[in-house]
Amino acid sequence: MNVLITGGAGFIGSHFTKFVVNNYTDYQVVVIDKLNYRGNLANLKEIEGKTNYKFIRGDICVKEDILPQVSEADVVVNFAAETFVDRAIMDASDFLSTDVFGVYNLLEAIRGTDKVLIHISTDEVYGSLEEGFADENYPLRPGNPYSASKASGDLLILSYANTYGIRFKMVRPSNNFGPNQYPENLVPLFITNAIEGRPLPIYGDGQYRRDWIYVMDTVRAIDLVMHEGEIGEIYNVGGGNIRTNLEITEEIIERTGASKDLMVFVDDRQGHDRRYALDSSKIKELGFEQRYEFGKAMELTVNWYRENEDWWRPIKSGEFREYYEKQYRERLSKAGYGE
Ligand code: NAD
Ligand code: TYD
Repeated sequence: MNVLITGGAGFIGSHFTKFVVNNYTDYQVVVIDKLNYRGNLANLKEIEGKTNYKFIRGDICVKEDILPQVSEADVVVNFAAETFVDRAIMDASDFLSTDVFGVYNLLEAIRGTDKVLIHISTDEVYGSLEEGFADENYPLRPGNPYSASKASGDLLILSYANTYGIRFKMVRPSNNFGPNQYPENLVPLFITNAIEGRPLPIYGDGQYRRDWIYVMDTVRAIDLVMHEGEIGEIYNVGGGNIRTNLEITEEIIERTGASKDLMVFVDDRQGHDRRYALDSSKIKELGFEQRYEFGKAMELTVNWYRENEDWWRPIKSGEFREYYEKQYRERLSKAGYGE
């Protein structure tokens, strides 16, 4: 099988790529990634030079970048996306380009063929749930420009299946954490800030809830969908670990041994979704079994950031500083923390 993986130099995509290259040595794997600020070839170093793997720098928004690669592929797994909510709130334009127009390009590239698009969506398309759990038929009510872009991509795929009969499978994972996550999301930001002795800026009252899953569980779920999932079906993939941000912060403080004084409540995110919660029965019926218990997964994650400072320190001193200033300087100084 020839597998094209878009966005394979990012967080989840790189773990999936390594998994496929190492476990299916008879598959040919090609990664296309634009290498935006989150894309990082260091994430793929372990498989550099393997004969069944090739990396190509390319943009899913540029037809000429993807057409030759898609024409060689049997399956296209699409991880490529702009992914961070706080940046979408600052400026949504790249989100609309990649998460909507980029998906359109991939759809056009597979239209009229029997290639399968495996699209990685998100639980955020269901929006905030005050109570209960969203199954795959739950209405899409995205609450921010990131999730609205992702939901638009999803709807476009469904419309192409209905109109042109394109073949797709879709996965909607919940909040992932683990090694190689760019240190702007809650878990890697707080772990690395805790190691550096910097404040941990908790938005609002910290009572926002997410359903957390370890990245290697998500990778196995996507692998299962790739091999056993039905064409035209959507699969939610949640970890069943619903935690408040405050609970996550306390867990990180405990595991890093940082001082509780680093916790600081800052101005809230605009339009902040209160709670995400997935019903993942369908993927379990397909045979998915989670391997990583939450505490164990947190321990592995904290240890990885401790042991891989050479991965994240250069990131935090680069473009990241500019973003960090913009996002947190005023918030932190209002809360009495001058940085
Ligand atoms: P990430 O931001 O770490 O990686 C995305 C990758 O896509 C990067 O390597 C980036 O360079 C690449 N990319 C961006 N725009 C591109 C373009 N136009 N053309 C080619 N490559 C491009 O993201 P992630 O956290 O690994 O998420 C991967 C996918 O999973 C995304 O589609 C995201 O919406 C979805 N998802 C993520 C989470 C999570 O918690 N991280 C949860 C649910 C769903
Ligand atoms: P994040 O990792 O951005 O994921 P999501 O896509 O679910 O928003 O944030 C997870 C939660 O943590 C979310 O409720 C926002 C909150 N958060 C903070 O309280 N402080 C922070 O500095 C960040 C980055 C996130």
